[in-house]
Amino acid sequence: MSASPVPAPPVRDGGAFTPGARHVAIIMDGNGRWAKKRFMPRVFGHKRGVEAVRAVVRAAGDMGLEALTLYAFSSENWKRPAEEVSDLMGLLRAFILNDIDEIARNGVRLKIIGDYRALAPDIVGLIDDALARTAGNGRMTLAIALNYGSQQEIARAAAKAAAKGAITAETIAAELDTADLPPLDLMIRTSGEVRLSNFLLWQAAYAEMVFTPVLWPDFTPDHLREAVGQFAARERRFGGR
Ligand code: IPE
Ligand code: IPE
Ligand code: MG
Repeated sequence: MSASPVPAPPVRDGGAFTPGARHVAIIMDGNGRWAKKRFMPRVFGHKRGVEAVRAVVRAAGDMGLEALTLYAFSSENWKRPAEEVSDLMGLLRAFILNDIDEIARNGVRLKIIGDYRALAPDIVGLIDDALARTAGNGRMTLAIALNYGSQQEIARAAAKAAAKGAITAETIAAELDTADLPPLDLMIRTSGEVRLSNFLLWQAAYAEMVFTPVLWPDFTPDHLREAVGQFAARERRFGGR
């Protein structure tokens, strides 16, 4: 079912905060501008960004989301100065080390989308341990996009589908990194930019979009609840009438 290229209309489940929303994705943008406004180095924005991640992951589980997909590092983010890339990798390392216990305890399954094996070997090791440790958890899936580019993901999926014999919307969808997640319901981008920046291009075919001017370090669980509330108020048509 999750391999279907266009999701079936969701069954509204009557959850207190998330009627119908099963899978939410967030482009966590604006860390640099948050720091700049405070005359601080960009890394301070990234540090506060990690705190926002922590709070939002907790809230997403409490709200009953089945999947939360977070854009943490794009395949294009390697273009940033080496010092910033290294700061981001350091924060990623620290996040896994510090937070995996809580994530595991809260019944969250960690998933990585993107080519994370190109990261530093010690980070790959930490990730593989974390994946193994949380593989049996079923309360929510936290998918973190690392070295992720949607066009690359689609190309990889198409190649795999071709190798198996047929390229169709269904066979490509079945090979995407997200194939085991529910259809994407809601895409949120912070910081006021209104673009997808190579994130979940295929999966967003019928997702609802919420663009907010809030900079990522200022994004709170209340902002998440508000966005999910906007989603719940929208009429999804999936091309029908
Ligand atoms: C998002 O914040 C974090 C990553 C892309 C890793 P930015 O670093 O892009 O912040 P801005 O867009 O420069 O404000
Ligand atoms: C998208 O933000 C990537 C992440 C949030 C990880 P960017 O800041 O890299 O996107 P652009 O460059 O503004 O499109
Ligand atoms: Mg940015």
